[in-house]
Amino acid sequence: MLKSTEELQQYIHSKPFKITSEAADELQTECYVIGGYVRDIFLNRPSKDIDIVTVGSGIALAELVAQKFGKGTSLAVYKNFGTAQVKYRDNELEFVGARKESYTHDSRKPIVEDGTLSDDQNRRDFTINAMAICLNSNRFGELVDPFNGLHDLENKVIKTPLEPDITFSDDPLRMMRAIRFATQLRFHIEEKTFDSICKNRERISIISRERIADEMNKIMLSSKPSIGFLLLDKCGLLEYIFPELLALKGVETVEGRGHKDNFYHTLKVVDNIAHNTDNLWLRWSALLHDIAKPVTKRWDDKLGWTFHNHNFIGEKMVPRLFRAMKLPMNEKMKYVQKMVGLHMRPIVLSEDEVTDSAVRRLIFDAGDDVEDLMTLCEADITSKNPAKVKRYLKNFELVRRKMKEIEEKDSIRNMQPPVTGEEIMEIFGLTPCREVGTLKMAIKDAILDGMIPNERAAALNLMYETATKLGLEPKKIIEN
Ligand code: CTP
Repeated sequence: MLKSTEELQQYIHSKPFKITSEAADELQTECYVIGGYVRDIFLNRPSKDIDIVTVGSGIALAELVAQKFGKGTSLAVYKNFGTAQVKYRDNELEFVGARKESYTHDSRKPIVEDGTLSDDQNRRDFTINAMAICLNSNRFGELVDPFNGLHDLENKVIKTPLEPDITFSDDPLRMMRAIRFATQLRFHIEEKTFDSICKNRERISIISRERIADEMNKIMLSSKPSIGFLLLDKCGLLEYIFPELLALKGVETVEGRGHKDNFYHTLKVVDNIAHNTDNLWLRWSALLHDIAKPVTKRWDDKLGWTFHNHNFIGEKMVPRLFRAMKLPMNEKMKYVQKMVGLHMRPIVLSEDEVTDSAVRRLIFDAGDDVEDLMTLCEADITSKNPAKVKRYLKNFELVRRKMKEIEEKDSIRNMQPPVTGEEIMEIFGLTPCREVGTLKMAIKDAILDGMIPNERAAALNLMYETATKLGLEPKKIIEN
């Protein structure tokens, strides 16, 4: 992993670095690329966000760099923070002056003092994120790594540069960042650092929910999110940031009968689904699919443990959870609600005989998200009994086959009513009333149950028959 200055020069030969180097030399200020970009060079992960630190004014350097890039460059200056951002093609360069006090994005923190590179490195989150490469021409490509971050990268260790209590008190979000990096990179959190997280966990409450959500989403998008949630649980942070998930933990036993531990089950489902989709919201659906199990849990002398309606109650809980965690209150949230509400349907369906009508109803209710729903249900099979798993998967295959057949035949997925409510009102001379709904529902049910084809003529016939039973007389005949 050790890379010589010459080797490192290869990684910073592109235009943004050359221009920054020239500008820094002209201003006669020391200048370094630092943080994630340097870490990612050693990890062989391409990154587009470039953090530049200068021992001087970050804004002055950014202004000169933007001027040198010329046309097609955008410059944004944040005077209060002493930072500036330059966008050039698909590169984003963040400029900041080296600081003595805390490195922080938190606007509530006091203004920081100018410092040396070493002051700045001291105040960064982890040793692997504190490495810098010099950009000035006389030291171009020289690595400055005072905390041996390279060694920690090699040994896959997350460790703070200073005493962890100091680093975490500068910005308590770093406790979550430690866990997020451990999850993304499959690194180990050094013992003293982890102990400090346990000790300081309660300090997470001063961090905005938006920043916490960003970290949580990064954990969710990693290849094995359970690593992060298990660590969050182990250090006690989970209790503060997501108590509803923690409530899934534990097994109760009555008359020698226990239920499964829904916390570990949920994490397995999330890991399973992470193999099959990068859709963040489908992954969130997996995390929340059983979220209402603790509140719906009952012991029944005949049935044993039940979680009656946990899918519907869970669906109702989603908006509250999203609002509390500052996740988007838009169609993404509605999608998660729908998935949580429907997550039992394919399983129930495959347990019984797979009838056409049940499949049609499933396609109708899930619409375009029916494939995602199947992906969720497959991930939900976490039984340790291989015979059971095999049986479920086989039944799911049958459900999928039937879905395909039925969809080709009946086009249920985005079914538009073959007769509209307006037409019904016109035919029977009605204003909006319950009878209109009854007639519409009768047509929909007949199609979904396979009694009539999804066609207009058949739908009109059924409507007239049903209307007669309701004692309604047509006032106007409509063409097929
Ligand atoms: N940093 C820090 N403390 C924080 C956030 C960031 O010390 N709470 C420093 C670290 O040196 C980090 C750099 O700022 O490497 C850039 O931060 P950011 O862009 O948030 O993260 P990256 O490390 O680049 O990682 P990623 O892009 O995966 O989020």
